[in-house]
Amino acid sequence: MHTRHYLQFKDFSRAEYAHLFARTKWIKQRFKAYQRYWPLEDRTLVMIFEKQSTRTRLSFEAGMHQLGGAAIYLNTRDSQLGRGEPVEDAAEVISRMCDIVMIRTFEQDIIERFAAHSRVPVINGLTNEYHPCQILADIYTFIEHRGDISGRTVAWIGDSNNVCNTWLQAAEVFDFQVRVSTPPGYEVEPERAGLHGTGHYLQFADPMEAVQGADLVTTDVWTSMGFEAENEERKRDFEDWQVDADMMRAAKADALFMHCLPAHRGEEVAAEVIDGPQSVVWDEAENRLHAQKALIEFLLLGKVEDS
Ligand code: CP
Ligand code: NVA
Repeated sequence: MHTRHYLQFKDFSRAEYAHLFARTKWIKQRFKAYQRYWPLEDRTLVMIFEKQSTRTRLSFEAGMHQLGGAAIYLNTRDSQLGRGEPVEDAAEVISRMCDIVMIRTFEQDIIERFAAHSRVPVINGLTNEYHPCQILADIYTFIEHRGDISGRTVAWIGDSNNVCNTWLQAAEVFDFQVRVSTPPGYEVEPERAGLHGTGHYLQFADPMEAVQGADLVTTDVWTSMGFEAENEERKRDFEDWQVDADMMRAAKADALFMHCLPAHRGEEVAAEVIDGPQSVVWDEAENRLHAQKALIEFLLLGKVEDS
């Protein structure tokens, strides 16, 4: 059987996402009711981290335990991965010893090469280019609060980074619009974002214009992991791209605020917004756990029906 991977948001169809969201709901409800669901006894997830993490590690590790399986954490510092073993060799070996792999790394090319040599499904736990698991959880969170995201408007304020690129791919899958505002020089690169040019995103010089009428306002750190050397320059360049109360007022009255976290209050978001009534950031974080359990189930067991 052909091995499926989850390397970019566009790897799954809208119908497959509909299945994943239905399973996320079922898995979440069942878990909260203390009903055991152990379809993956004896199965092992290997998690490879080349960058830091709190949420991704915890949600994958806890999630795999909750499905009855085991999770093993590897990082570059204390495995041969940091000593120049070719990615292709690592993929051949690791995928013979486990059932599924999650990788957080730098260039997307690394995870694509790993997947090409893996016998088992590979999940992107964040690369410089994409963060599909985050948007999987974010869209589930939007649906929980507001229903279908198709036809809605999302405003992205700040850096056109991995999370922004993934929102843009999601807009093509679900047919919604993303209004992006970045400082000059930090604009979306449609090719790097992996877009088809189907007109689901609009670029605005003025962030106040981008948030007009939005159903969801979202942002992320000004400096992503791996770009720390640019931190001071970015703080100056992004000064006017803070999501504040004025921006939230320009969006729809019932607009939600999301942030993948970790956040820097006083930089990309004002404290009164992230800690305010429109913010659903804690639900987003929690839903990483439930949505990724549905993702692992789908990649290993296919379309399981609710029981
Ligand atoms: N949002 C997210 O992926 O958080 P971590 O970097 O803590 O995993
Ligand atoms: N854009 C951020 C997301 C962290 C979860 C980064 O890549 O550091």
